[in-house]
Amino acid sequence: MKEHKTTYHLSKFAEVVFVSRPGQELYVKKIRNGTVIDHISAGHALDVLKILNIDGHEGDIVSIAMNVASKHQNKKDIVKVEGRELKPGEVDKIALIAPGATINIIREFEVTEKNRVKLPETIGGIVRCANPSCVSNAGEPVSPRFKVEKEDPLKLRCFYCARIMEKQDVLKQF
Ligand code: CTP
Ligand code: ZN
Repeated sequence: MKEHKTTYHLSKFAEVVFVSRPGQELYVKKIRNGTVIDHISAGHALDVLKILNIDGHEGDIVSIAMNVASKHQNKKDIVKVEGRELKPGEVDKIALIAPGATINIIREFEVTEKNRVKLPETIGGIVRCANPSCVSNAGEPVSPRFKVEKEDPLKLRCFYCARIMEKQDVLKQF
């Protein structure tokens, strides 16, 4: 069957490729080296790029597939970043935005590491409290800390002022 391919060039180095075959799932080609963030909940690939501060200006080749068929979920998004292996801090950020995503490290076309992201019970060091009067925003030596009340949809409760933070509040900070 005939394959249909649409490529959008976001910048000199970033492109989004949508490939569809009639009756089959959409896919993005395999990469040689880098990171594949797989099983992102459908429609949230751009949030993952946002939280990783990837906008194409870094020079890495980035491919995105959205709303593709998945074995485990109904639909999913995938982000592939070529030539770069995500650092542990970046993996933690993805857990906030895409619980259940898998991070695959690719070397010479092989998946050499596969990790399912998971939020710990408490988080610190990634986000600030959205309450301007919170003690963690007062210039005191009190670093922001949250209890993870719910992973999906995200609900974080500030340790100090009990303000509830949701995914949109987190994304605003990136
Ligand atoms: N992948 C890639 N380039 C490679 C190898 C793998 O882009 N050289 C992608 C695959 O397309 C897939 C993801 O990395 O989206 C994980 O690959 P793999 O573990 O081979 O796939 P599955 O077994 O389907 O993964 P899972 O069990 O996590 O669903
Ligand atoms: Zn607070």
